[in-house]
Amino acid sequence: MTQQPPRMTTTAGAPIADNQNSLTAGPRGPVLMQDYQLMEKLAHQNRERIPERVVHAKGWGAFGTLTVTHDITRYTRAKLFGAVGKKTDLLIRFSTVAGELGAADAERDVRGFAVKFYTEEGNWDVVGNNTPVFFIRDPLKFPDFIHTQKRHPRTNLRSPTAMWDFWSLSPESLHQVTILMSDRGLPPSPRFMNGYGSHTYSFWNDQGERFWVKFHFKTQQGHKHLTNDEAAQVVGRSRESYQEDLFGSIEAGDFPRWTLQVQVMPEADADKTPYNPFDLTKVWPHADYPLIDVGVVELNRNPDNYFAEIEQAAFSPSNVVPGIGHSPDKMLQARIFSYADAHRYRLGTHYEALPVNQPKCPVHHYHKDGAMRFFRNDTGNPDAYYEPNSLGGPAQDPSVAEPPLRLSGDVARHDHREGNDDYSQPRALFTLMDQGQKSRLFANIAAAMQGVPHAIVERQLGHFAQVHPDYAEGVRRALAQATDAARPETAVP
Ligand code: NDP
Ligand code: HEM
Repeated sequence: MTQQPPRMTTTAGAPIADNQNSLTAGPRGPVLMQDYQLMEKLAHQNRERIPERVVHAKGWGAFGTLTVTHDITRYTRAKLFGAVGKKTDLLIRFSTVAGELGAADAERDVRGFAVKFYTEEGNWDVVGNNTPVFFIRDPLKFPDFIHTQKRHPRTNLRSPTAMWDFWSLSPESLHQVTILMSDRGLPPSPRFMNGYGSHTYSFWNDQGERFWVKFHFKTQQGHKHLTNDEAAQVVGRSRESYQEDLFGSIEAGDFPRWTLQVQVMPEADADKTPYNPFDLTKVWPHADYPLIDVGVVELNRNPDNYFAEIEQAAFSPSNVVPGIGHSPDKMLQARIFSYADAHRYRLGTHYEALPVNQPKCPVHHYHKDGAMRFFRNDTGNPDAYYEPNSLGGPAQDPSVAEPPLRLSGDVARHDHREGNDDYSQPRALFTLMDQGQKSRLFANIAAAMQGVPHAIVERQLGHFAQVHPDYAEGVRRALAQATDAARPETAVP
């Protein structure tokens, strides 16, 4: 290289003469207090870590585009769906749920599938998973559920006992547990899995009509899975198999794609379905609400700086845009609060101004000071720093008001288990599995139950039996066959 490299400077911009030798009194030292560059390098290093996400800490991400292939403007006025052929930039971060930042990638877990669409009317985030349902349907249980997935306070080990104790006491988890323990619970890379918004959201159109909607991202790479034994080999070779695969394939120009589809339910249908369409432990059967094609999502650019663009990415179900709204789903309602709160703690007050989170449209708000106030609100008028004002400052736009939603009901802590069928949909899933899939399901469950007390196992088998007698029988057989059953050292509390 003949070109001179750029001159190295301090963070204040002054040129640096020597970045190899500390400033010392004589060649043997000691160092002088006035070597500010040394102090600053050490001090900066001490601040290189931020809190990891409380869940979904380990992740992989890339940038890309949504290209609209079908017209859905009769359902939504969202600008990103405004015309066939329209492209919108996006970011996807995939993740596992329970593992910490350094966890191995090829572990059995639900995978996060978080998409940020940088639309012309603001950022829209679909913060979903690779499963269409979830373990619980009431957000009051979320912290307890997550405690069972993370480390035991005394042993500092993951506790299968805690997991199965909680699951067996929470039969609404059966659907998700069945998916987690099936082939789909361990994809070899994010490229080979679907994404689901999971919750019911809403669409509203130019006529002010509301529709309930579910989002599906179907992999165009096809489904693949690892068996537990294959995964152990992968982890033995590399703990970073997802990063290698995703980064490597995009770097090689082999861009992964997903077909974006929606299920749409007219607003009034919500009172007619035999299941609660706002229950996150349930899907909408395709026969009732068929998949409608919308577009193609492609990932085609790796981040230049993982920390800046993936670790600092802040996704939140609160981020919707005109034409897309929420629903009465209790879990979704709680998530609307929880994510932005997590970001303020993890990243800082003005996290939305970080380049990766910054909308690609004008931003005019009146939030004022605080850590990271490094950006301008370019309204052209510094005197208009409150609202309302008579200075021509940014003003609300009633044309983007969501149509009103009629709600009713007694305020109470309603029992979410009452009259709720937790078994039919897991049964529909179990029934569509072939014999090989079922055998692996049984074996995976038996492996995950090693060391779990008998009473808890029996309670869970009782639930499997209500899904299908073959389900309970298969797991019972696999438990009996598990070679390393009841090793005392695996019997953690
Ligand atoms: P369908 O036969 O129309 O759909 C079956 C769905 O199951 C397909 O979307 C398929 O996904 C998916 N699937 C296949 N194997 C697995 C697995 N091991 N784990 C998770 N999903 C799998 O039936 P219904 O719509 O009536 O649903 C029946 C059951 O299918 C549900 O109870 C639910 O468990 C599961 N399912 C349903 C979805 C829905 O939105 N209705 C979505 C995903 C799963 P793919 O097309 O990607 O192969
Ligand atoms: C991450 C809370 C349910 C998908 C997180 C984070 C919190 C959280 C606090 C960390 C955010 C951060 O620090 O950036 C909750 C609560 C839930 C819930 C309170 C239920 C009441 C769900 C469900 C899904 C989901 C149902 C999927 C359908 C994700 C994903 C991430 C995440 C994908 C990682 C986002 C990223 O890549 O940055 N959740 N969660 N969560 N959650 Fe949830």
